[in-house]
Amino acid sequence: MTRIVVVGSINMDLVTLAPRFAGPGETLTGDRFLTIPGGKGANQAVAAARLGASVSMVGCVGDDAFGKQLYDGLVTEGVDVTHVTRVDGIGSGTASITVAGGENSIVVVPAANGRVTPAQVEAARDIIRGADAVLVQLEIPLDAVDATLRIAQDEGVPVILNPAPAQLLPVEWLSRVRFLTPNQHELATVLGAHGETDFRELMRRAPCPVVLTRGEDGAWFRDKDDEPRHQSGFKVDAVDSTGAGDTFNAALAVYLAEGLDVAVRKACATAAIAVSRLGAQGGMPRADEVTAFLETHQ
Ligand code: RIB
Repeated sequence: MTRIVVVGSINMDLVTLAPRFAGPGETLTGDRFLTIPGGKGANQAVAAARLGASVSMVGCVGDDAFGKQLYDGLVTEGVDVTHVTRVDGIGSGTASITVAGGENSIVVVPAANGRVTPAQVEAARDIIRGADAVLVQLEIPLDAVDATLRIAQDEGVPVILNPAPAQLLPVEWLSRVRFLTPNQHELATVLGAHGETDFRELMRRAPCPVVLTRGEDGAWFRDKDDEPRHQSGFKVDAVDSTGAGDTFNAALAVYLAEGLDVAVRKACATAAIAVSRLGAQGGMPRADEVTAFLETHQ
C-alpha cells in the first residue's frame, strides 16, 4: 500500500451556492449554505485515503467546534491524525467559498493553520522516513514548509509541492522538490516571472520537474530535462471546482509508482470526477470509481 504524509492546512469550508458572484457592496440571495471539511492539506489527505493510500496528516485545528468536527472527519476517512494538534485559544481555519456556475471564489482565514511549526514536522520525521511521498502546500507557515522539504530530503523521500496559494519561493527550495504542481499563474508567481505567458517556457525555466494543471485542458508535465508533454483533460459537467487541484495532487502521489504518464492521466481523471460533484471533500472519488471512469472516458 502506498504510504503518503501530508503536511498542510485543515479548514472548515463555509460554502454558499449562488446564482452568480456578488459585486462589491452588493447583497445577493443564495440558493444553499453548507459546511464541508476542506483545507488544501486535509483535502489532499482525504483524497489520497479514498484512493486507497495509507495517509498520515501533520497539521493543526483550533479548540472550537469546527476543530473537533475536522479532526473526527479525518479519523472517519481513515487518515492517521497522530500528528494533528489541537491548539488551545484559537479557532480552526475557515474558507468562505461562493460557488456559482461551476466556478468558485474563496477567502481563507488561516487561524490554527498558522501554528504549524518546524518542530511539529520534526516530530513526524519517523513517519516521513517510512513514506513513499510527502505532499505539502503553502497554507501553513513557510518555515514549516521549509522543514518539510529539508526533512524529506534528509530521509530520501520525494516531495510534491503544490504552491498554492502562490508566492515567490527561494530557488534553493525548488531544487529539493520532486515535483512542483502549480497552475500557470502559480508557476509564474513562484518563479517571479510575472508577465511571462508561455507556460512551456516557464516549465523549462523551473529548477525542478513540474506538473502544471490546466483545468479542462488537462495537464502538462516535464520530468528532469525532458520537453513538456501534454495530457488532455476529461470532459465532465462542472458542478464545483473547489478542491480539484488537491484531488489532482493526491492522485499524482498515489499513482506515481505506475510511472509519470500514467499518474498524470489518472490524476486528470480523478480531478475531473471531483469537479462533477459538490464540495472539495464531497467530490473526491474512490479508486474503483477512477478505474470505471477511465474505462468509459478517452
Ligand atoms: O483547494 C481548495 C481549498 O482551498 C478549500 O477546501 C479551502 O479550504 C481552501 O483552503
